[in-house]
Amino acid sequence: MVKIVTTLFLLTTIFYCVQSRDNNKLIHDIIRDHEIVIFSLSFCQPCASVKNIFRDLNMKFFEFVIDHQGEDSFEILDILSLLTGRTSVPQVFINKKFVGGYKEIQEMYENGTLVNFCDCLDCECSMETY
Ligand SMILES: *[C@@H]1O[C@H](CO)[C@@H](O)[C@H](O)[C@H]1NC(C)=O
Repeated sequence: MVKIVTTLFLLTTIFYCVQSRDNNKLIHDIIRDHEIVIFSLSFCQPCASVKNIFRDLNMKFFEFVIDHQGEDSFEILDILSLLTGRTSVPQVFINKKFVGGYKEIQEMYENGTLVNFCDCLDCECSMETY
């Protein structure tokens, strides 16, 4: 009996570990591996505006659409809010640093500081969506 219970427990644990994606690692890896990352939601107008700004400047970005992640979406929002202190989207990271949302990107676009990143980034317009 004890053996059966132990076996069941082990199987459940293994199943759980295989099932659950390590979202924390995923988010950190994405931020580490891409120069510009936009965490967005589909049907979010400020997210579309931010993407248009980067397209306009020919700055390549990686878009992570949070609501495309199924039941992991909620955990991902929690992880991001711990990282950035925000619950709104878009959340934009450049060179692994959180630079802000729509307001900040729009201001950096208007005051000319956003395009300065092109000196060190691969500014060739293309888009990746996860
Ligand atoms: C441009 O706007 C950004 C975002 O608001 C701000 O942090 C930065 O100091 C501004 N730079 C200049 C030169 O105005």
